[in-house]
Amino acid sequence: MDKILVHGGKILEGDVRIGGSKNSALPILAATLLTKEKCVIDRVPDLSDIHYMLTILSSLGAEVERASGVVQIRAEKIITEAPYEIVRKMRASVCILGPLLGREKSAKVSLPGGCVIGDRPIDLHLKGFEALGAKVTVKGGDIFLHADKLKGARINLRGRHGPTVLGTGNIMMAAVLAEGTTVIEGAAEEPEVVDLARFLTAMGARISGAGTQHIEIEGVAELHGANHTVIPDRIEAGTFLVAGAIAGTRVTITRTEPEHLGAVIHALKEAGFNLSHTSDTVTISPNGARKPLHLETIPYPGFPTDMQAQFCAMLATMNGTSVVTETVFPQRFMHVAELKRMGANIELIDHHATIHGVERLSGAPVMASDLRASAALVLAALPADGVTEINRVYHIDRGYEAIDEKLNGLGAHIERVKAK
Ligand code: EPU
Repeated sequence: MDKILVHGGKILEGDVRIGGSKNSALPILAATLLTKEKCVIDRVPDLSDIHYMLTILSSLGAEVERASGVVQIRAEKIITEAPYEIVRKMRASVCILGPLLGREKSAKVSLPGGCVIGDRPIDLHLKGFEALGAKVTVKGGDIFLHADKLKGARINLRGRHGPTVLGTGNIMMAAVLAEGTTVIEGAAEEPEVVDLARFLTAMGARISGAGTQHIEIEGVAELHGANHTVIPDRIEAGTFLVAGAIAGTRVTITRTEPEHLGAVIHALKEAGFNLSHTSDTVTISPNGARKPLHLETIPYPGFPTDMQAQFCAMLATMNGTSVVTETVFPQRFMHVAELKRMGANIELIDHHATIHGVERLSGAPVMASDLRASAALVLAALPADGVTEINRVYHIDRGYEAIDEKLNGLGAHIERVKAK
């Protein structure tokens, strides 16, 4: 398995280009199953999760061609079964359920396994499919969906921990080809849901309200091929802003969408950094004394759970006591034990982390657990004394395109040691 060695203490400065959004691209690629015609998707990031999704689409019968960031897909004839060997590697494979049900009125897809960020149920997705008229059975680790026809319905997708992002996408993808009008209440408002709605609309779907908690979908008889450019990755963008905060003098992220970064920019300003932006760049630089924060993760437009670990890494080296509360995935604190190995002083009680900032962290061998926890370890290592050895970096490669090369471009010293 590859590992990363971060030689701490280098100062970051310069520009870094942000890639297309992983969490937008995944359901958009799945949505190409909704038409027999060719779709061309641009700015698809080169990540292992994207590779898994393209493998799933090929295994269903789609013709997939990829040249740098452009993916062409033609799903002229498809099958509706995706076995465990194919879907087990990625939770997001559940987002093929909606398109398969929408187009073929049938699907048999294995339930992907557990995940270190906590229990990841899909009860809300299944409730939505049932409301559209599908019979849902879970047996032997497989989900079976079947409908003679899908009929528009009023569905509330709000769960105990708030709205569901992929659930909203899945129901939209099934409802676009249902008879009549579907109303989703309690819909996720994330930019990735809006991006999916834009792509579906380009395919001929009729959707209004995406980006609010109330989405209406008027079913159409069929969809056609379309071209689409994926939005910039707001979590990659936020991660590089935190890198700038932790170890930089002036870092500018380019080809980004500042509007999607509101809560992250606000938190960084509150922590004492100077942030400025143009229409597609954001620059961070120090601004006097740093201040501890009280942060709570909240669905968009609130502070994103996908940035929680990176902020813990930053706050661990800032004077004062910060409190970080995770409300979306209450168990998502795998990074805390590893940050402690580097000298961080963090108390974890339930879903609250109390972080007492220390002067310096020190390099140590640490273990990447999930994607964002791994990014947090890379960030923590940037200003740390000595060398941090991060194992199991395949977690980082799931969601960050060449994070080591991009950070080195800003002045970091990171080596990737390839597995023999
Ligand atoms: N939930 C349910 N029932 C469901 C679905 C979700 O109770 O049927 C709960 C979850 O357990 C969680 C909350 O609702 O407590 C929100 O989960 P959500 O469904 O929104 O998560 P997701 O759609 O599976 C996406 C991203 C995650 C990101 C979350 C929250 C993708 C591929 N994944 O997951 O991204 O953390 O939304 O914003 O879009 C990551 O990129 O590192 C990542 C984990």
